[in-house]
Amino acid sequence: MTKVSTQQPQSAPGHEWWRSAVIYQIYPRSFADASGDGIGDLGGITARLPHLAELGVDAVWLSPFYRSPQKDAGYDVSDYMDVDPLFGTLDDFDRMLAEAHTQGLRVIVDLVPNHSSDQHEWFQAALAAGPGSPERTRYIFREGKGPGGDEPPNNWQSVFGGPAWTRVADGEWYLHLFDSSQPDFDWNNPEVGDMFVEVLRFWLDRGVDGFRVDVAHGNAKAEGLPDVDEELIAAGSMDSPFFGQEHVHEIYRRWRTVLDEYEGDRVLCAEAWVSPLEKMARFVRPDEMHQAFNFVYLETPWDAAQLRSVIDESIRAFGEVGAPPTWVLSNHDTIRHRTRLALVPPPPHGAGIGPTSKSKADPTVSLRRGRAATALMLALPGSAYVYQGEELGLPEVTAIAPEQREDPTFHRTKGELWGRDGCRVPIPWESEAPAYGFSPTGETWLPQPPEWATLARDAQAGVEGSTLELYRRALALREAHGLGTGELEWIDVGPTAIGFRNGDITVIANIGHDAVDVPRGEILLASSPLDAASLAADETVWVRTA
Ligand code: NOJ
Repeated sequence: MTKVSTQQPQSAPGHEWWRSAVIYQIYPRSFADASGDGIGDLGGITARLPHLAELGVDAVWLSPFYRSPQKDAGYDVSDYMDVDPLFGTLDDFDRMLAEAHTQGLRVIVDLVPNHSSDQHEWFQAALAAGPGSPERTRYIFREGKGPGGDEPPNNWQSVFGGPAWTRVADGEWYLHLFDSSQPDFDWNNPEVGDMFVEVLRFWLDRGVDGFRVDVAHGNAKAEGLPDVDEELIAAGSMDSPFFGQEHVHEIYRRWRTVLDEYEGDRVLCAEAWVSPLEKMARFVRPDEMHQAFNFVYLETPWDAAQLRSVIDESIRAFGEVGAPPTWVLSNHDTIRHRTRLALVPPPPHGAGIGPTSKSKADPTVSLRRGRAATALMLALPGSAYVYQGEELGLPEVTAIAPEQREDPTFHRTKGELWGRDGCRVPIPWESEAPAYGFSPTGETWLPQPPEWATLARDAQAGVEGSTLELYRRALALREAHGLGTGELEWIDVGPTAIGFRNGDITVIANIGHDAVDVPRGEILLASSPLDAASLAADETVWVRTA
């Protein structure tokens, strides 16, 4: 039976909108706060949707707004089929969805299947039922090692720091790849799979256009939960026993059959931090997901040879399975690319930056570079994700006091890693309003830097040369020239620049220090004000040459 939705924006038959869509990530707690409590909410999103339609994106992805104790900003879900009162109600969600569809925007929601909150009724039941009970088999409980079982069952470490196991009162240990408040499900238990199919249907029936799947590479663990041997993994002779296990793909094949029952091109997008690209592309084979964030691209430094190679490899690897590449530069887990690409020295992955970090970015260089990187990304064929605030050129915020920081990474590592709060600061809408228009009361759950007044949306709208106008123009041109559905043809512009044609547009990005010639033709877009004859360092230009 084909399920018919009344609301999905229409696309031409066979168009498969997601192949070339630009999708805007809304991080609800930091987007717009209608209630005034300092935390963004669904009412705030609904009110601001016209701005996104006007920006020219095709869809939005919302990070979690489900019931949650908010130990990991909502990625600790206690009820997958309800809205947390912090963000509103199910009715608010329906209103937001209807308004998005009216504005021609599709809506992708986040699904968190690797773990729940420890406040989920299943985990509470598992604790109450005790060792050996069927309730415990929905999670990964084990006896400890060593005398008295006092040692964790294996040597796995939490992504947020410290051991990945916590002991409960009766002596058993449970696995949590993230915070101790986020117990991992045991996907060998069929009840878990069935519950998530119910969750998929719940949101599909409400009319969502798809799901971004959290830790999509983590649900399946290696049989017997073997110890990790970092040296063997680094040498390529051992696969991670918890990330990228082959049998994880069975889960998504089942989900795909569910989505295919629904009309309207609903999609699945994998958050899968796996490499090489061939492994990532396995998530988007024709009977699995539709998209997978290209994190290999995100992690590539600002270097012409490396960028050319990752773009080439991505188009090849995704193309081999018939999927589009899905480009991304920023999200709520990474240092904003406007800052990251200019950090010297580059910090270790996942560390974040703070007020005392050695890594610093020159604000002028980093803005030029961030804009040039975006202009390069948006010219590539395939789909692309942009993260709220990047269209304003927001930098990573370092001035957040320890007591204001909420990321469990900061707290679990006792401040050794700064974590991700710096990319999650509430975004500025109006330069003169309290909290720059984020909340009517001036409350914000993280402090906004005073210099953000000049970056507020209303300070940039209609201003020639602003980052907001650059994004708008790039998105409009991308659409008008079909760049997302185009094909890339490399042109030689020397070792420290990148050049390619996509349809009638020639794109040159100068990644090095030496000036590069701008080809003859009509200049459609320049990431920074251009000296007509040449492209300076950290600039990208789109020229109509055909
Ligand atoms: C990835 C999410 O993007 C991140 O924010 C979260 O902390 C972890 N998964 C755990 O759910």
